[in-house]
Amino acid sequence: MAFPEGFIRELKQRNDITDIISSYVTLRRRGRNLVGLCPFHGEKTPSFNIYTETESFYCFGCGAAGDVISFIMRIENLDYVEAVKYLAQRAGMSMPEDSYDDTMSRLRKRIYEANREAARFYYRSLYSREGSEGLDYLHGRALSDATIRHFGLGYADESWDSLCGHLKEKGFSNNELVSANLAVGRKDGKGVYDRFRSRVMFPIIDLRGNVIAFGGRIMTDEKPKYLNTSDTPVFKKSENLFSLNNAKNTGERTLILCEGYMDVIAVNQAGFQNAVATLGTALTGEQAMLMKRYADEVIICYDADEAGQKATARAIPLLRGAGLNVRVLTVPNGKDPDEFIKSKGADGAAAFRAIIEKSGNDVDYRLQKLRSGYDLSIPDSKVRFLEEAAKFIATLSSPIERDVYMSRICGEFSVDKNAFAGQVDRLLSRRRFEDSKKEFRRIRDDLSGANDKINTDRRAKPRSSSAEEALIAYLISNPDSSKYISERLSAEQFGNSLMKRYYLYLQERVSNGLDPLNNVSADLTRDETNRLYRIIADHSSVRMTREALDEYIEVITEESQKPDKAEISRMTADELRQSLERMKEKKQ
Ligand code: UTP
Ligand code: MN
Repeated sequence: MAFPEGFIRELKQRNDITDIISSYVTLRRRGRNLVGLCPFHGEKTPSFNIYTETESFYCFGCGAAGDVISFIMRIENLDYVEAVKYLAQRAGMSMPEDSYDDTMSRLRKRIYEANREAARFYYRSLYSREGSEGLDYLHGRALSDATIRHFGLGYADESWDSLCGHLKEKGFSNNELVSANLAVGRKDGKGVYDRFRSRVMFPIIDLRGNVIAFGGRIMTDEKPKYLNTSDTPVFKKSENLFSLNNAKNTGERTLILCEGYMDVIAVNQAGFQNAVATLGTALTGEQAMLMKRYADEVIICYDADEAGQKATARAIPLLRGAGLNVRVLTVPNGKDPDEFIKSKGADGAAAFRAIIEKSGNDVDYRLQKLRSGYDLSIPDSKVRFLEEAAKFIATLSSPIERDVYMSRICGEFSVDKNAFAGQVDRLLSRRRFEDSKKEFRRIRDDLSGANDKINTDRRAKPRSSSAEEALIAYLISNPDSSKYISERLSAEQFGNSLMKRYYLYLQERVSNGLDPLNNVSADLTRDETNRLYRIIADHSSVRMTREALDEYIEVITEESQKPDKAEISRMTADELRQSLERMKEKKQ
């Protein structure tokens, strides 16, 4: 069962979409609508739109779209019922009783509770007699008891069922424990066992203070070194960062990005609370966007080894793409930040501060890396270095930035700036040409639906799909045409299965006197919602006349009478001839 329509209507009226979104995005007015930089993907020119008339948002860059509820679900990482509760609370509305299905949010709530209880259990266990091995390990890694408490570190003992036993006593079911990924179901189907054993435990806490997952480190050389919670209904590792809950409160707009849990903790102990780490995967675009919400600058502080340097090279464009300034810190002597701080003993904090202050911006870092690959005393290799440097500078999008680095390089290597700038310009125009070719291909594929995973029928049936999309847009802005359409067209005539689903859904609502889009965030998936609003946006400047509608109906009818490929291959020669005759007659 869903929320009453009237409740959702009022919820949306009392949570104006512009008010809500403007607390996350800086908006500018453009005609009747508002635009800003999309909070869901990195961009430099605004393609995120709010349509005040339809109380919706749509991003032309990444396709994110929906109503105010979809927006909150996405930006606050909540499910539908949680987002509705969040908005109701904000507007001081009480929730309707028992009218909605909250099975999923109840499960999520239970997972949060189980995780919190597990974190307490692991922490207590660390300071119990059985936990001495874990506590010795953490002390051995130079962590103080205050740090251990601050991060809520813990210990999972070697038994197969101590956590499960404890949580079952607290009333949690096997299903809840497995859903939380705290336990694993036995192969024979008889019960469950603890997922984490003989490990020191690192709880991962989200921005609202919920324990959402754990990382567990083995205390020997066994593999895997760290075991992490798999994705669960409350946790997606590609969208969260370790210790962002601490880092977001420092008041600085700088974050230090480390590779591992221990690095973050050591850096914290050295006095920098603004450190975060990814959770056992390479940095993602979502994580970069998440950082952008709390920072303007990121200092990459990855391991000095080859893997760490490769990861640095991959992270730079992602962070820049999210609109962040990037600095790169190089830890001396091939160490990771944790080892470096520990090796300095009591001077660890001061030594780390010194290398932070020395960290250069990402362009310096890349040029420095490039330079170290050439013997600059040999003219030939100096030329090759300069060519590579020109290539790199041509990738910078800011003309001022390009100019600054060109001047510096030309000064340093006594080369003629005009010659060097000419080289960069040639590379730039070649790149712009490549980019526009790519953009052209992207638009072409987009129009043909070649890579479309949602609207899969579009490619095979472009003509009927276009007409059906236009008809959907028409029906949404003219609900009073519902009867006119249904008298002339049946859903069975739709060639595109996604449009058919939209059509049935919208007709059902309109014929019951409901606002067509009031409930999309509950009734459609995220992809379906995005696509529906894209269709609306694509048709927003199309004139919605009865004549146009009649034409869409005609095209859909005509296309529905054409036999499809499978039918054609089954037809006999005679049947095929007859079918062609019929089509010709209709055309006349
Ligand atoms: P590292 O292998 O660099 O370990 O992994 P580390 O951070 O230096 O760990 P310590 O100091 O030996 O304890 C970096 C990060 O990659 C993830 C973890 O998040 C780790 O902190 N990782 C690593 C895993 O998820 N699983 C693994 O088996 C190893
Ligand atoms: Mn380490």
